[in-house]
Amino acid sequence: MSKILVTGATGSVGRHVVSSLAEAGLEVRALVRDPGRAALPEGVEVARGDLSSPSTLEPALRDVESVYLMWPRLPVQPGVVDAIARHARRVVYLSTDVPDLEDGEQPTIFHQEIERQIRKSGLRWTFLRPIDFATNTLGWADQVRQGVVRWPYGQASRSLIHERDIAAVAVHVLTSAGHDRAGYVLTGPESLTHAEQVRIIGEAIGREVRWEDLPPETAREQLTAAWGDAEFVAARLKAWAGFVDSPERVTDTVERLLGRPARTFRSWAEEHADDFR
Ligand SMILES: NC(=O)c1ccc[n+]([C@@H]2O[C@H](COP(=O)([O-])OP(=O)(O)OC[C@H]3O[C@@H](n4cnc5c(N)ncnc54)[C@H](OP(=O)(O)O)[C@@H]3O)[C@@H](O)[C@H]2O)c1
Repeated sequence: MSKILVTGATGSVGRHVVSSLAEAGLEVRALVRDPGRAALPEGVEVARGDLSSPSTLEPALRDVESVYLMWPRLPVQPGVVDAIARHARRVVYLSTDVPDLEDGEQPTIFHQEIERQIRKSGLRWTFLRPIDFATNTLGWADQVRQGVVRWPYGQASRSLIHERDIAAVAVHVLTSAGHDRAGYVLTGPESLTHAEQVRIIGEAIGREVRWEDLPPETAREQLTAAWGDAEFVAARLKAWAGFVDSPERVTDTVERLLGRPARTFRSWAEEHADDFR
């Protein structure tokens, strides 16, 4: 097997993709912006590059067969997929739970635009479409430390996935055949309400953490001030409201691909307990 380039190699998923590939003795190269801060496992080849500047990727892509591609908060750069297609044969893209675009349909989110570029590129591709990362609950860490989480829609049920399961699927797809043109919707093994997630985090850190339902309009003001994107906040609030009556779906994709159940949110919370202490 030839070399695999991992982008977002210091990110929550990419870091595990790099370490799993390296542990398996595979040839991996990690793309980072600042090698001095990357803190990747010893012996991993590191290449400097910036996804906002496609020409910086050329040296990193040399002799690469496959690419694990993630896209950070950046305007989409068409040159990136083109550069990958000039060097590699296959890309595994960390997308999100989006439908395939119909012919002529316009993307509504950057992930659809990147998926569209990849489909047109001639690369062999697989799209990983996780719905909701367990790491999102780290946003509650300050409130957990105060002993009470005030957030909207305590009864909204979400199917959070452990970042290591996304990485494990990425590694499986990068190292085995039969995944071309697949879009894998990835979730955790169960759907848990926001309030249940907070209770489980409290159990993992060994102290009671209360849930307090924040009225949606108060949440809208606070989250817009914190996140600076009213449209995104509105979309989140609408989605969470919907998950009260219709829990976020749970897929068996992780288990089907890996031959073992997806990790639970409890195991995630226990692993991340120190982040909440
Ligand atoms: N959170 C969710 O629930 C969810 C659900 C579905 C999909 N997703 C998608 O998952 C992706 C995030 O993945 P993640 O959590 O593994 O990453 P992450 O933890 O957010 O880390 C971001 C990564 O992007 C890198 N990066 C930032 N700007 C860069 C640039 N200009 N050039 C090259 N690298 C750059 C960072 O590297 P540096 O070390 O250089 O900063 C870091 O490795 C996003 O596309 C998001 O939409 C998230």
